[in-house]
Amino acid sequence: MEKKAKTNYPLHEILESRWSPRAFSEEKIEKEKLQRIFEAVRWSPSASNEQPWFFIIGEAGDPTYRMIFETLVEFNQMWAKTAPVLMLALCKKTSAKTGNTNDWARYDVGQSVAHLTFQASYEGLYVHQMGGFDAGKASELFLIPDDYEAVTAIAVGFIGDYQILDTRLQKSELAGRERKNSVEFVFSDKFGEKSALI
Ligand SMILES: Cc1cc2nc3c(=O)[nH]c(=O)nc-3n(C[C@H](O)[C@H](O)[C@H](O)COP(=O)(O)O)c2cc1C
Repeated sequence: MEKKAKTNYPLHEILESRWSPRAFSEEKIEKEKLQRIFEAVRWSPSASNEQPWFFIIGEAGDPTYRMIFETLVEFNQMWAKTAPVLMLALCKKTSAKTGNTNDWARYDVGQSVAHLTFQASYEGLYVHQMGGFDAGKASELFLIPDDYEAVTAIAVGFIGDYQILDTRLQKSELAGRERKNSVEFVFSDKFGEKSALI
């Protein structure tokens, strides 16, 4: 199912077609595609080139997948169960170079996941990020050291038939996608002042 963004200005196809589905087909993801989406992570920018991103990845049926699934809140478990791949994105909270707190770690992980998402879109895959998971439980299950923290859970896969979803979820799967207009968040002169540049 397509849910292309209704853009005000033309966008690159992979940005236009990306969205966060809940109905995933159970089709396996080829290893080469996964290798390429992590190559996109690899080449993402980061403060002082710290590359503070780490991932834990599981494929349906394996123990890692089951443990990631266990960390999800019930709402996300309702739909994420058909995704062929589940991941956790983690950050290293301190600098590998200085040992000081890395204030940009979560920002950089988010950006690396954006890169992952767009490469996934290019590969015909879809990504659904989930803040609804228990990071503490993830730390326990995966023996994550204190200096690292799970930031988000992620489902990846090919699009599935929306009718596999619980009826409550089918409605949002079919609903249109809404966004603010850029004039609401791009300012000049002072905060809140519409910019003449766009
Ligand atoms: C950090 C983050 C956390 C999110 N958490 C959840 C979640 O726990 N459950 C869920 O169903 N969707 C979650 N989403 C998906 C958003 O609801 C979705 O991206 C947003 O509504 C925009 O829709 P679109 O991605 O289809 O454009 C999350 C997205 C992000 C980026």
